[in-house]
Amino acid sequence: MADNIFYIGIDLGTSRTSISCSNGVRETVWSYVGYPKDHVAKKKFGGRDIIYGKEALEGRLALDLFRPMAGSAVKQKGAVDDPRRKQAIKDLIQHVVALAKIPTGATIYGMIGSPAEASVEGKATILEAASSCIDSVIICSEPYAVAYGLDFIDNTLVIDIGAGTTDLCRLHGTMPKPEDQRTHEVAGDAIDQTLAGLIKEKHPEAQFSINMVRSFKEKYSSVSKNMDRATVEMPVAGKPQKFEITELIYKACYTLVPPTVAALQDLIASYDPEYQAQMRNNILLGGGGSVIKGLGLAIEDALEEYGGGKVTTVEEPQYAGANGALKFALDMPPEFWHEFKSAKA
Ligand SMILES: Nc1ncnc2c1ncn2[C@@H]1O[C@H](COP(=O)(O)OP(=O)(O)OP(=O)(O)O)[C@@H](O)[C@H]1O
Ligand SMILES: [Mg+2]
Repeated sequence: MADNIFYIGIDLGTSRTSISCSNGVRETVWSYVGYPKDHVAKKKFGGRDIIYGKEALEGRLALDLFRPMAGSAVKQKGAVDDPRRKQAIKDLIQHVVALAKIPTGATIYGMIGSPAEASVEGKATILEAASSCIDSVIICSEPYAVAYGLDFIDNTLVIDIGAGTTDLCRLHGTMPKPEDQRTHEVAGDAIDQTLAGLIKEKHPEAQFSINMVRSFKEKYSSVSKNMDRATVEMPVAGKPQKFEITELIYKACYTLVPPTVAALQDLIASYDPEYQAQMRNNILLGGGGSVIKGLGLAIEDALEEYGGGKVTTVEEPQYAGANGALKFALDMPPEFWHEFKSAKA
């Protein structure tokens, strides 16, 4: 590896963007980009033009706030990226690349994960955005990156439960094709919406925001029959009160299981029969949603009627995609990168 070449792997997620760099840096930011609404707002942020991540979410009242990957063309079929979204995606990528602290003037080769079934238009947005700060960019399938990073590439099925989508991908030693991939939209954001609906129905007097609901879920998420009791605080007419929402959290989290098992079963059933058993026993569960307690077991239970299976949950869901993309980038022959040179100034 030449000294002045730095390799990066990026997982450009709806809710979080992570980067792993060949210099050892690993960083994650929430995928929010905010632009101060006026001069007063800009002053509040110390004169900065762009605010990122958690700080942007928390300061949203003074910002034009974007969660640019949510509903973007790369994540959602048929979506079209308008210029402001494109700019926010570009700013987000520039921000995470800057976090990698790569010396000025160095050459950067970047591998960016995208959902298994990303559209051509969506990928074009990412390539264009990334080419502003990365010398050569390759987009790879996100589940493939996760599995590659963990050396799980043969007869493996990866389930990546993100915020916007749950992506499933069958791997058999080569790059996955469209028929190897399935996506459904019951993922983290949908669980938040379902949970919000259930809370509203059972406790109409409680006041809450979707961010509060997400934090309840992240604290107590479980599909285990013996889950911890979930008691949360929400105001009623401005006064904090405690509510028990254990059953509601279970129900909302469990909505993930049926569509995921259906997609799994579909991918297994249409695979070479000789290798179906091996694939069933090589299921890798990743993404932020994979930390829901008992999820691996619940999927195994649901697979029982189709002949059973074994689910392994990845250890570091936050970095599994970025680390895998980096490993893939490092293993790519140098000539390959030359073909993907961007127009970085
Ligand atoms: N402890 C937890 N329990 C349940 N869900 C969680 C937990 N921690 C994070 N999540 C959820 O995981 C989701 C984010 O996962 P991840 O970071 O893999 O998504 P992403 O890569 O940004 O999204 P996508 O892949 O859809 O673009 C969010 O919906 C978040 O609420
Ligand atoms: Mg993801």
